[in-house]
Amino acid sequence: MTTFSERASTPVATTAPIGIFDSGIGGLSVLRHIQARLPHENVLYFADSGFAPYGGKPEQFIVTRSLAITDFLLQHGAKAIVVACNTATAAAIKALRACHPRLPIVGVEPGLKPAAALSKNNTIGVLATERTLASSKFRQLSERIAADSGVRVLTQACTGLADQIEKGELQSAATAELVQRYAAPLIAQGADTLVLGCTHYPFVLPLFQDAICDAGSGPITIIDTGRPIALHLASLLKDHDLLNASSSPGLLLTFTTGSEIALRDALKKLLDLQPSTAKVTIN
Ligand code: DGL
Repeated sequence: MTTFSERASTPVATTAPIGIFDSGIGGLSVLRHIQARLPHENVLYFADSGFAPYGGKPEQFIVTRSLAITDFLLQHGAKAIVVACNTATAAAIKALRACHPRLPIVGVEPGLKPAAALSKNNTIGVLATERTLASSKFRQLSERIAADSGVRVLTQACTGLADQIEKGELQSAATAELVQRYAAPLIAQGADTLVLGCTHYPFVLPLFQDAICDAGSGPITIIDTGRPIALHLASLLKDHDLLNASSSPGLLLTFTTGSEIALRDALKKLLDLQPSTAKVTIN
């Protein structure tokens, strides 16, 4: 396998890769925005698919996995970490920052702020995992946004949806039924803005659009935070003098604790990419 140290005879910190991880393939919805905004950056993508989904797991389990994955990415030379998972961010970002105080770390959280700014009737609906919605980080965010903007925040845990996406079932009747079941109550309660609070969900955006059509309500805006995360990462790298000045396309290496074939298929199907993919075990 090509390593980053083989690419440059005198490796410098700016050519080091950005490490991105998720419970599985959901973080690829963030990776696509990072590659679009930072095309010259080298990237390591880690899918913890052998342990997915995180959404129904205990917080301490997710903290332990996130610390171990971050160590793996640092051992492979990462200069910054993107926690491309709302659930892992809610559970573990505090512990990650405490363990690595000098490391640039970017997390993702449901886009309540943009949703509150866009909502015309002051009612927003958040779709996320049980663990994200139960976290104190989400509760604090939600209370702050509600207090600052006066918006009503409705929530819906989407049990099983990330699993369907992990299985590659992006259009199946079962996945469509789940999306319909979870989106309908939020729309019925008047939400005119829906927040995709899990990085897996943008891959079933057409099913959310169908559910909105079926509900026959007025126009509904859907919020995905992939692009703002990429912009934030770019400014953080700039602040740390870590932007890669190379003019050649960045290299992507991917790792999974699950099936290599499944990750390879997802990369091809979702992003039309065919990077090197390795199966790894970390405890
Ligand atoms: N992609 C993840 C998130 O953004 C987690 C999905 C899961 O593993 O349950 O929350």
